[in-house]
Amino acid sequence: MHKVIIKGGRPLEGKVRISGAKNASLAILCASLMADKPLVLENIPYINDVKVLIEIIGTIGAKIYWQDYQSLYIEPPEKINGDAPYELVKKLRASNLLLGPMLAKFGCAKVSLPGGCNIGSRPMDLHFKGLRGLGAEVSLERGHIIGRAGKLTGTQIYLDFPSVGATENIMMAACLAEGQTIIENVAKEPEIVDLANFLNAMGAKVRGAGTDIIKIEGVTSLDKCQRYSIIPDRIEAGTYMVAAAATRGNVLIENVIPKHVEPLIAKLREANVDVEESEDTITVTAGKQLKPVDIKTLPYPGFPTDLQSQMMVFLSTVPGTSVIIENIFENRFQVADELKRLGAKIKVEGRMAVIEGGSSLHGAHVKATDLRAGAALVIAGLAASGETHISNAIYIYRGYQDIENKLKLLGAEVRCL
Ligand code: UD1
Repeated sequence: MHKVIIKGGRPLEGKVRISGAKNASLAILCASLMADKPLVLENIPYINDVKVLIEIIGTIGAKIYWQDYQSLYIEPPEKINGDAPYELVKKLRASNLLLGPMLAKFGCAKVSLPGGCNIGSRPMDLHFKGLRGLGAEVSLERGHIIGRAGKLTGTQIYLDFPSVGATENIMMAACLAEGQTIIENVAKEPEIVDLANFLNAMGAKVRGAGTDIIKIEGVTSLDKCQRYSIIPDRIEAGTYMVAAAATRGNVLIENVIPKHVEPLIAKLREANVDVEESEDTITVTAGKQLKPVDIKTLPYPGFPTDLQSQMMVFLSTVPGTSVIIENIFENRFQVADELKRLGAKIKVEGRMAVIEGGSSLHGAHVKATDLRAGAALVIAGLAASGETHISNAIYIYRGYQDIENKLKLLGAEVRCL
C-alpha cells in the first residue's frame, strides 16, 4: 500500500531545495551505456524511476552503483549480457531511450514495449523513423521492440512533431554513426540540451541543441567524460511553486534555473502571484487578488504538460473561470474527476478543461492516476481543509525525491506510507 495522507489548509512557508532532473537523468543514464570508460553522474535524483532504470542497465551488463546519495558510478559493458526485462521495462516509459544507445554501441537491442504513466497512446513511430533513417532495422515482435544495426550512417531526418524521446534516441544513436546527421523540428526542452552537453562531454559532436535543428558529426568513440552533473528538475521546482501559490504561501525555491520555468512564471504572474527570480532561486508569494488564467500546453518553451495538472489545482482555488487546453497527451485530464471529490468544479470536454474556481476544497479519499496527477493531488490536499488520503502514491515516488521531508520543512502535515 502506497499512500500519502495530508492534513491541509495551511500555507506552505520556508525553503525547498530542488533535486536533479528526472527526465535528464533517465536519458543521460541511457546515453552512458555508449561510453568507453567508467564515469560518475552527479545530482541524480533518488527516485523510483531512476532506481528501476539502474536495475535495467545492470541487467544489460553495466556495473552501476550509488557512490553516495546523489552520485552514480557507471562502468559500461563491453557487450550486452541480456535483454531489458519486461517486468522492469513495463514500469518505465523512458526505457525506450535504451534503443538508440544500444543499437549504436552494440548493434542490437531488444526492449519490451515500455509502460509508464497512462496519459495517452504514446506511439514510437518517430523514434523508429529516425533510427531506420540511420540504417537500423527496427521491428515489433510479440510485444518487444527488436533492433539490429550494422554501421549506422548519418542522414537527414524531419520529425513530424518535436518529440522529446524521439529527439533523444536519434541524437544519441547519431553520435556513433558515420558522417553527419541533421535532425529537423526537434524538441528544445532543457533536458535535450543537458543530454547534448553530456554527449559532448563524452567526446560527441552535437550542435544546435535547444534550437529547431540539431547537427551531429559522428565520432568513433565516447571516452572523454569522467564526471557530469545533471541540471535541476524544472518540473519538481514548478510543482513546489504551484503548491506555494495554491496554499497562499511564501516559498523560496533553491537550486532552480529560472529560465527553465519561464512559462510557469509568466502564468503565475498573470494570475497575480508574486514571483521573484535570482540566478538560481525563485520566491513565490501568493497575492490576495488572484485572477483566473487560460493555459495551453505546448512543447518547450510553451507551457509544459507536466505542470498542467498541478495548475488545474491552483486555478480551482482562484475565483473565476479558467480554461486549460492539453495539446500533448490526450488522456491527461483524469485528475479532474479526483479533484471533484475535493470540491473542485471542473468540466472536461476532449482536450479542454473548464475550471470554475473559488469554491473551497475539502479533504477526501482520492487516487493518483499518473505521476503528475499524483503531484496535483498532493497540492490539492495541502490546499484543502481536513484530511486527504491519496492512494496509488507509488506514482508520486516515481518522480519526487524526499517529498515527505521537503513538504514537512515547508510546514505541511504530511505522511508518506
Ligand atoms: C517526455 C517526458 C515527459 C513529458 C513529455 C512531453 C521523459 C522521460 N518524459 O516524454 O515527462 O511529459 O516528454 O514534454 O523525458 N509522439 C508521437 N510519436 C512518437 C513519439 C511521440 O506521435 O514517436 C507524440 C506523443 O504521442 C505525444 C507527443 O508526441 O503526443 C509528445 O511526446 P514526447 O515528447 O515523445 O514525450 P516523451 O518523450 O514520451
